[in-house]
Amino acid sequence: MVDLPMGFIHLLFFSVVSSSSVLSHAGHDHQGVGINYGQLGNNLPVPSRAVHLLRTELEASIVKLYGADPGILAALANTGVEVMIMVPNNLIVPISPNQSLADEWVRSNLLPHYPRTRIRHLLVGNEILSDPTNKDIWFNLVPAMMRIQAALEKYEVKEVKVGTSMAIDVLENSAVYPPSNATFRRDILRRVVRPMLEFLQDTRSFYYFDVYTYFHWIKDPKKIGLDYALLKDNVTRYTDPASGLVYSDLFDQMVDSVVFAMRKLGYTDIPIFIAETGWPNSGDYDQIGANYYNSATYNRNLVRKLATGRPIGTPARPRKPMRALIFALFNENMKGGPSTERHFGLLYPNGSRVYDIDLSGRTIVSAYGPLPLPKNNDPYKGKIWCVAADSAGNNETALRLAVTAACGHGKGSCREIEKGGPCYGSGSQVVRASYAFSAYWARARESGVSCYFGGLAAQTIRDPSYGSCKFPSVSLTGTD
Ligand SMILES: *[C@@H]1O[C@H](CO)[C@@H](O)[C@H](O)[C@H]1NC(C)=O
Ligand SMILES: *[C@@H]1O[C@H](CO)[C@@H](O)[C@H](O)[C@H]1NC(C)=O
Ligand SMILES: *[C@@H]1O[C@H](CO)[C@@H](O)[C@H](O)[C@H]1NC(C)=O
Ligand SMILES: *[C@@H]1O[C@H](CO)[C@@H](O)[C@H](O)[C@H]1NC(C)=O
Ligand SMILES: *[C@@H]1O[C@H](CO)[C@@H](O)[C@H](O)[C@H]1NC(C)=O
Repeated sequence: MVDLPMGFIHLLFFSVVSSSSVLSHAGHDHQGVGINYGQLGNNLPVPSRAVHLLRTELEASIVKLYGADPGILAALANTGVEVMIMVPNNLIVPISPNQSLADEWVRSNLLPHYPRTRIRHLLVGNEILSDPTNKDIWFNLVPAMMRIQAALEKYEVKEVKVGTSMAIDVLENSAVYPPSNATFRRDILRRVVRPMLEFLQDTRSFYYFDVYTYFHWIKDPKKIGLDYALLKDNVTRYTDPASGLVYSDLFDQMVDSVVFAMRKLGYTDIPIFIAETGWPNSGDYDQIGANYYNSATYNRNLVRKLATGRPIGTPARPRKPMRALIFALFNENMKGGPSTERHFGLLYPNGSRVYDIDLSGRTIVSAYGPLPLPKNNDPYKGKIWCVAADSAGNNETALRLAVTAACGHGKGSCREIEKGGPCYGSGSQVVRASYAFSAYWARARESGVSCYFGGLAAQTIRDPSYGSCKFPSVSLTGTD
C-alpha cells in the first residue's frame, strides 16, 4: 500500500526493460546480480514488505524463491522483477512418473501469477544431488524436469526455463585445482548428468550453479588466500597447467571447472546461471573469515564483476555474460548448523541493511563508507564454551527438553548439574543448561555438532566456571 506510487514508477521503468528482454532470447545475453529470498526465520517481514525492501534497499531486479509462495508471487506482480520459483524436493519422486501431477503443479502454482509476475526460471529441487541419503530422488530428477517442461508447453508458457540447482560437489572430489581437470561425479554421470545436460541443451535452459568461494576457502585458507576468494582484483594469479588459462579469482575457477566438466561430455555452450553465492557477515568464534568486511567485499566485488560494464566472462568463456543471485535477502534465525548459516543476509529482519550494497551496480564501490576491519580472518586461539543464549530463559519447556537431550547424548555427563552437584546453580535452569551444552559440545564438536541447540545455545570466550563448577571447553590452537 505504502509503496504504490513507487511501484507505479517501477512499472513504467521496467516495462521498457522487459520488452527488450523478449527480443534477447530468454536472457542468455544478460548479466546482473539478484537475490535469494529465503524464509527460514521467525521474525521476517511479510512478503509485501520484503518485496518492497528488496527493490528499494537493494535495487534487486531478479529474485529466487525456495518454492512458489502465492503471497510473495502476488507481491512481485507488475514490479518487473524477474522471478525464479522452485518445485520442492519432496515432489520430485511423485512428479517423475505422473504427468497430471506436473500439470497440476504448474496450473496451481505458476498460472495464477503468470505473466503479471515475471516468472522466468523454474528449478526442480534444490541441490538434491548433494544429498547422498536420498539417491532415490537423483534418478527421478530428470524425468520430473521433463514432466514440468511438458506441463509448461501444454499451457503455452514459453518464457520459463526449467533446471535444477547444483553445488560444486557434483564434481568428482569437488575439484577445482586445476579447472581443466574437473569431471562430474561417477555416481551421477550416466544416469543423471548426461540426460540432464541433453535436456538443458535441447530446451536452451541454464546450468544453475551454487558457487561459494567461502566454503572452499575455509577448507584450505593458507593455500587459497583470502583475497583470491574475495574476488579482489589485484591478487596473485593462478595458471591452469593443462589449459594455460590464467585465473585471478576463485569464483572464475569454480565456474570454469563446471565448464570443463561439461565440455568433456560434449556440451560446450550451455549457459551458467549462478543460483546462489555469497559470504557470511558474522559467525562463531571457531569459524574464520565470517565478518562484515569480507561479506561486503565479496558481494560488492561480485556486483562490480557481473553487473557493471561490458561482460567479462571467465577465462574459459571470455566475454560471456552471466547472472548471479546472492544468498540471501535476510539473516535467517531458524537455519540449523553453524552460526554462519544464520548470517548470510544483506538485510536484518527489521529491514536495515547489514552494510551498504546496490545490486544494480549503479553505485561505485569507492562511494561506500568505511567498513569495520575484520577481526577473525585468522583462526581463533584459545578456549571456547557453549552456553545458554541470552534469550534461552524465555521458554522453560524448550530449555528443559534441550538439557535432557544434551545429557542423554552425553551419556552421564550431567551428574554435575543434579541436586547436590557442583553445577546445580541453585536450581537455575539457565546455569544448568549452560553446563549441559558445554559438556556435550566439548565432546561432540569434532564429529560436526554445532553449538546451537535449536537457537538456545551460543559460544562464549568468557569462562562461565564458578566455585567448584568447572565447565568443559573446546581448545583451539589456531591451526584448526
Ligand atoms: C497422479 O497425480 C494425481 C494428482 O494430480 C493423482 O490424482 C493420481 O492418483 C496420481 N497417479 C498416480 C498413478 O499416482
Ligand atoms: C586430475 O584428476 C585425476 C582424477 O580425478 C587425478 O588422479 C589427477 O591427480 C588430477 N590431476 C591434477 C593435475 O590434479
Ligand atoms: C590488494 O589490495 C589490498 C588493498 O586494496 C591489499 O590489502 C592487499 O594486500 C592487496 N593484495 C595483493 C596480493 O597485492
Ligand atoms: C535492525 O537490527 C540490527 C541488528 O539487530 C540493528 O543493529 C539495527 O540498529 C536495527 N535497525 C533499526 C532501524 O532498528
Ligand atoms: C516452547 O518450546 C516448546 C518445545 O520446543 C514448543 O513446543 C513451544 O511452542 C514453545 N513455546 C513458545 C511460547 O515459544
